[in-house]
Amino acid sequence: MDVLDVLKARRTIFKFNSRPVSGEMLKRIFEFGLWAPNHHVTEPWRFVVLGEETKQTLARRYGDIQEGKASEKADESSRKKLWQAGYDKFMSKPAVIAVSCVQEGDEQQRREDYAAVCCAMQNVQLAAWELGVGMQWSTGPITMQKETYELLGVNPDREYIIGFFYTGYPSEIPTPRRKPLDDVMRWTA
Ligand SMILES: Cc1cc2nc3c(=O)[nH]c(=O)nc-3n(C[C@H](O)[C@H](O)[C@H](O)COP(=O)(O)O)c2cc1C
Repeated sequence: MDVLDVLKARRTIFKFNSRPVSGEMLKRIFEFGLWAPNHHVTEPWRFVVLGEETKQTLARRYGDIQEGKASEKADESSRKKLWQAGYDKFMSKPAVIAVSCVQEGDEQQRREDYAAVCCAMQNVQLAAWELGVGMQWSTGPITMQKETYELLGVNPDREYIIGFFYTGYPSEIPTPRRKPLDDVMRWTA
């Protein structure tokens, strides 16, 4: 697909089929992240591909988070259902990749590096789309918990987890929604 077509065609994917995404494919996709613009070329991006054991641990924690949303009146069985739905949802993502940003230097550098990692993340999403792989960039509570940092070996004093990429081959492509350009662009004298 032409780059301009990919820019418009890419969608966030929430539902994946069961086809696994190979490590080779993930390496191919994430390599495009390295080519993002980055002031002073600090290369602040870090990618952690979750192995099966880690994924299961996080899926259990995801279940806990979902269960925690139960109303106070909820009985044991509905709590269990919420937990199980959370666990299954997390496990239904064929691959999960955490993306973090090294946070060093002064405030300006930290902002710039954060922005650069976001650019890298968009490169990754676009490359994935071109290769038939879908992603959901997620910033839910599971990405922020202290235990997640520990489990993934990310030092919170040095790195900030920007989000997870839930990754796989799409089984459903949502319909996009955007305002027209004229609603958000203005021209000065
Ligand atoms: C910084 C950032 C954080 C996001 N976090 C979430 C999230 O936690 N959960 C979610 O469902 N989607 C998340 N998304 C994806 C957006 O929901 C998605 O981009 C939006 O619905 C527009 O859809 P599109 O990507 O298909 O154009 C996030 C996107 C960005 C850029």
